[in-house]
Amino acid sequence: MPTTLTWLGHAAFLIETSGKVVLVDPYLDDNPSASVRADQVTPDYILVSHGHGDHLGDTLAIARRTGALVVSNAEIITWLKNQQVAGHALHIGGGHHFPFGHLKLTPAMHGSMLPDGSDGGHAAGFLLTTADGKKIYLAADTGLFGDMRLIGEEGIDLAALPIGDNYTMGPEDALRAVTFIAPRLVLPIHYNTFDLIQQDGHAWAARVERETGVPVRVLSPGQSLQI
Ligand code: NI
Ligand code: MN
Repeated sequence: MPTTLTWLGHAAFLIETSGKVVLVDPYLDDNPSASVRADQVTPDYILVSHGHGDHLGDTLAIARRTGALVVSNAEIITWLKNQQVAGHALHIGGGHHFPFGHLKLTPAMHGSMLPDGSDGGHAAGFLLTTADGKKIYLAADTGLFGDMRLIGEEGIDLAALPIGDNYTMGPEDALRAVTFIAPRLVLPIHYNTFDLIQQDGHAWAARVERETGVPVRVLSPGQSLQI
């Protein structure tokens, strides 16, 4: 059964797979580029890559309204549980079989402080293996690191990589990440949300395709693809 992945803008995704709805980094109501509002999504699960406001986003409100189970690192899940929100804690390198597929936390070179200054543990990315064996790597906020090659060894079907620069990899390092990961398809994210992360997604896509041979899909917020 195909998996549908909808980019909601910035690093937010809605993934429909195995009959479940998985919301990722739901920065929606304060996100000038978001394609939906927080009260328009009804996820079964919410994945949170790290504690920064543009990723934690509307997690508390959405989880309280829908009862969605939050999956994140142990520090963020502890912080959420103290606010009566249910979660499943993973940590870097660890994976678990969920009803929507197998999810592993990958390293990310980034911070993770929560909005109230609490310790949000270590920032992470996600490696989702769907029921039909598709591998989706959502890098979330990260700088380039050589161990992306190890993630690539798993055989990645789709990699969502930040290209915005300033807070994360910029276009140059994101291109190097593509060579490290060698995915079947690349999706640029975490750009054009704010002035500091303005990038030309189509120019980057053309360059990546020319220099690496890996196809790139440039989505607008609200657009979907199936894998
Ligand atoms: Ni961040
Ligand atoms: Mn961010």
